[in-house]
Amino acid sequence: MPEFRCTRCRRTVDLILLENAAGCPSCEARFGLLDGCIPNFVVDPSAPENFLGSMFREEAAAYDDRVRVACEHGFWVLEQLKAKEPGANGRGPGTILEIGAGTGQMTRALASGVQFPYERLFVTDLSADMLRINWRRRQPGEPEAKIRYAVCNSLDLPLPDHSVDIIFGMDILHHILDYPVALTEFVRVLAPGGFCVLEEPHRGAFEMFRFLCGVLLVTDTKWPFTGLTDRDRKQLQGWKSHLYNLMSADDRNDLGFLEKLDDKYLFDPDVLKKRALEAGFDRFSECNILYRPELRIPYAPMIRDNFNGLGLSKRAMKLLDRVTAELDDTIGQQMLRYFPVNTLFLFWAAET
Ligand SMILES: C[S@@+](CC[C@H](N)C(=O)[O-])C[C@H]1O[C@@H](n2cnc3c(N)ncnc32)[C@H](O)[C@@H]1O
Ligand SMILES: [Zn+2]
Repeated sequence: MPEFRCTRCRRTVDLILLENAAGCPSCEARFGLLDGCIPNFVVDPSAPENFLGSMFREEAAAYDDRVRVACEHGFWVLEQLKAKEPGANGRGPGTILEIGAGTGQMTRALASGVQFPYERLFVTDLSADMLRINWRRRQPGEPEAKIRYAVCNSLDLPLPDHSVDIIFGMDILHHILDYPVALTEFVRVLAPGGFCVLEEPHRGAFEMFRFLCGVLLVTDTKWPFTGLTDRDRKQLQGWKSHLYNLMSADDRNDLGFLEKLDDKYLFDPDVLKKRALEAGFDRFSECNILYRPELRIPYAPMIRDNFNGLGLSKRAMKLLDRVTAELDDTIGQQMLRYFPVNTLFLFWAAET
């Protein structure tokens, strides 16, 4: 198991495969093995810096039902990137690192090597449960000899300095409370001129959910009465104010409040840009990703999924369906142009 940097002694070593562990030949640290072959560098999962919401641990198997995973989206992002970022085209086969790879929305696109050929691909996540699902989804044709999986924290990557050409991360940075430290870690592992691509939720999606909670609550008071239960009202009011609190805590950078949430940040590009430059990145660009009808994921069911967690009554869900059905017609699609779903951020390491 070559090319890892031991997270204990910080030396670059060929890990030795032992019976039930991977061993560092330099400091004799022992790292557990997932499914007998994936090194797990997270020695103490209960340490505060390794905090993970339950969705990425015990509920990992249900993650794809709750968050509709569309592997096609990964391919689309890579295509856009290759077409629109001239600098991204120039890098030949090298080392790619995926952070927070989860169950593999982007991994399958990366592993195919179609848009960005590679010599080595590292697929990593802090959650052993998420990464196990990802690993078991390997597709025929993915060159296993070139791919390494590892359980690790993006705050402490088991990779040598300046050893990575491209870092990809989808929907991960906003889960890390101390994300400026993660940015510094990305700078450490990136080779000169390398770059980091992060896709993060846009505030627009959250505005949309808050707006819909409000619509349901006011619609119900009008004729004909559709009958939200008291519990529905409580749940909708609760989520609406939670989203409001999240957005205002984010504005105030209130870490005490954000710490308790699974989704901690809705990045303001200017704030993120400042942090990226402070971390040592050289250049920065970003673009918003709007809802894409061709994804074949109609917006209404996607919204439905997000409301599902509230445990609303059947009648409340019917009302939601009626309201959101409008979103999948042409006018609805036009309106969604004003609600970007995600933002794609690009940070460039200095050339020298
Ligand atoms: C919203 S999921 C996204 C998963 C995948 N990238 C996707 O787009 O489907 C966030 C992932 O980030 C991982 N994660 C959270 N904090 C992390 C950290 N500090 N280091 C590495 N991974 C982390 C979680 O375990 C989870 O799999
Ligand atoms: Zn060591």
